[in-house]
Amino acid sequence: MSNETDIGKDSILSCRKLVRFLGKDENRTHVLRGVDFDAHAGKTHAIVGPSGCGKSSLLYLLGMLDRPDSGEIYIRGTPMARANDNERTSARNEHLGFVFQFHVLLPELTAAENVMMPMRKRDQLGESAMRKRAIELLDAVGLGDKVNRLATHLSGGEQQRVAIARALANEPPVLLADEPTGNLDARNSNIAFDLLSKLSHERSIAVVMVTHNPELASRCDRVLRMLDGEFLK
Ligand SMILES: Nc1ncnc2c1ncn2[C@@H]1O[C@H](COP(=O)(O)OP(=O)(O)O)[C@@H](O)[C@H]1O
Ligand SMILES: [Mg+2]
Repeated sequence: MSNETDIGKDSILSCRKLVRFLGKDENRTHVLRGVDFDAHAGKTHAIVGPSGCGKSSLLYLLGMLDRPDSGEIYIRGTPMARANDNERTSARNEHLGFVFQFHVLLPELTAAENVMMPMRKRDQLGESAMRKRAIELLDAVGLGDKVNRLATHLSGGEQQRVAIARALANEPPVLLADEPTGNLDARNSNIAFDLLSKLSHERSIAVVMVTHNPELASRCDRVLRMLDGEFLK
């Protein structure tokens, strides 16, 4: 049985015995029933399982967007589940990038300005350094020729690639993605997946991806199957 003493040394993001209940009274649901997980640098991890089994709830907890009822979450071995909001926010900004199914770029901003948003939040780079990094990231996702395009003037597939570049803005060691290809057609799903995979391997990022697509899942380095709030052994 896993416990706090065996957090994998090469695990950047881990959890142990995570338990979460959601909803009130008769709607109260035991969403996560003691989940253990380790995310490794340079590896892609697919989380698969039927709708409602707890995949998004787990990602919210790992992303410190929600708190568990019990259990622990570790970032590079530091327990975070009961850390204060400021500590959790700064750990999130420093270590985690997020990509969701609906990319929600700011429509009135250009691709480059969207990618610069998390850098502005973190407030560590000057304007020209932020812009240089945004252009480098957009180049890496194949949008080097569209950096000044308004988000609304990009296709769905292109917008999701901007969202991937934005998630990498602060060079996080972990990228959490909830059905990142869920609203893309087959061709764009493949492009986005290949990109995540390539970035993970080249930049040593731990990619943790929820997906409904078994073909994409099978191309990940690890596949974790969830059923009714637990990983199958
Ligand atoms: N706010 C909530 N109140 C009550 N139940 C919830 C709430 N959010 C999610 N759930 C329930 O938790 C379970 C897991 O949901 P979720 O993590 O979104 O599943 P998945 O992402 O695997 O489809 C589902 O049964 C869902 O109905
Ligand atoms: Mg979900």
